[in-house]
Amino acid sequence: MSIYELMKKRCSVRSFEDKPVEKEKLLQILNAARVAPSAHNEQPWHFIVLQNSELKNKVSSRWSKAPVIIVVCGDHNSSWIREDDKKDHCDIDIAISIDHMTLMATELGLGTCWVCAFDPNLASSALNLPKNLEPIALLPIGYPKKVSDINRHKTQRKSLDEIVSWDEYKI
Ligand SMILES: Cc1cc2nc3c(=O)[nH]c(=O)nc-3n(C[C@H](O)[C@H](O)[C@H](O)COP(=O)(O)O)c2cc1C
Repeated sequence: MSIYELMKKRCSVRSFEDKPVEKEKLLQILNAARVAPSAHNEQPWHFIVLQNSELKNKVSSRWSKAPVIIVVCGDHNSSWIREDDKKDHCDIDIAISIDHMTLMATELGLGTCWVCAFDPNLASSALNLPKNLEPIALLPIGYPKKVSDINRHKTQRKSLDEIVSWDEYKI
């Protein structure tokens, strides 16, 4: 599969088969995050892999039926801060690592969904996280019950004309 085909195949999966995910596949997904680029190569991330039902339910009852939830945490003690304006690049680095994982999971026949609609304070206390570690997103993973049409981007995405300017900014 070409990288573009893989990108089109990846979709948000919100219901999963009641079937465990093989450890080998989880390791491949986590390794895809490991090789992601990050600002100044700081790799300010930590991935907490939840398979325990009670813990999954504590972190997010909505997603507790997913066989696995990866809690993707950003480490504000190590993320790169731009000197001029003090912009923290943690969110950017975390987003790249998540995208690597969603694509790898897709290649392995698994479904994922980016989840930011969760309570980070609840997740932090359920997992006893230190203050510097921010739970930025959840990544539920499992075998998909349903996948979206690979051609949906024709209608579900803006056209290039709407999002690209050449040389001069134009709307
Ligand atoms: C940063 C981010 C946060 C998201 N948070 C949620 C979420 O909390 N719940 C959810 O069901 N989907 C969430 N999504 C999934 C988007 O709704 C989805 O990617 C978008 O509608 C496009 O659909 P597709 O992923 O199937 O191509 C999120 C996506 C991103 C990138």
